Amino acid sequence: MKNTAGTEAAKRAAGEAAAAEVRDGDVVGLGTGSTAAHAIRDLGDRVDDGLDVEGVATSYQSRALAKEVGIPLLSLSDVARVDLAIDGADQVALGANALVKGGGAAHAREKVVASAADRFLVVADGSKLAEPLDYPVPVEVLPDALARVERAVRDAGGDPELRSAERKDGPVVTDNGNLVLDCDFGAVGEARSLAGTLSAAPGVVEHGLFVGMADAVFVGDDDGDATRR
Ligand code: 5RP
Repeated sequence: MKNTAGTEAAKRAAGEAAAAEVRDGDVVGLGTGSTAAHAIRDLGDRVDDGLDVEGVATSYQSRALAKEVGIPLLSLSDVARVDLAIDGADQVALGANALVKGGGAAHAREKVVASAADRFLVVADGSKLAEPLDYPVPVEVLPDALARVERAVRDAGGDPELRSAERKDGPVVTDNGNLVLDCDFGAVGEARSLAGTLSAAPGVVEHGLFVGMADAVFVGDDDGDATRR
């Protein structure tokens, strides 16, 4: 489920402002989605100009884009730490330092890369800001555990909906071969508590609540400017 309200100018401003933080020699986590894609393209231009970086992709999509723009790639399994990771979000609560991610169904790998990073930089247009979070939380689920996890989500006060593929019949299948439930909890006042509840449910591979992880949020606006928050 994608949050598509933001303009391209705002996304570009946010992505490029975060990419400007990258320095020679850095290992960079490459996020997924249309906003992070601006950062990846900008880094590709700088690689053409001689910037020496290596990327760690968070999805099939970001790996393909990084290859296209010439960013050398490392495998996540070969990397103990990442200097900085740049990634988008579906919703951002600045006050609580909490995000909803997973609109591209890549949040499991995105969370591993973000947690391996010395600095996690979030890129978003202004339409993504909300206080508190109220965007449906993506939950990646082992296929055989679907019914069990649906029940656990309802017990936690949520309304789960199996994410279906836009271009073909059937559900979305993640890069890891799992399913995604978009879980509407209404307003999420206690994101950390909900995150713990979801993580504890057997069959949940990963959920899209990122609490206390962002080191900075770059918010782009329609004039093409970005503010660091
Ligand atoms: C993918 C994500 C994306 O970062 C999130 O969906 C934001 O995407 P976009 O920048 O296209 O709005 O979490 O799993």
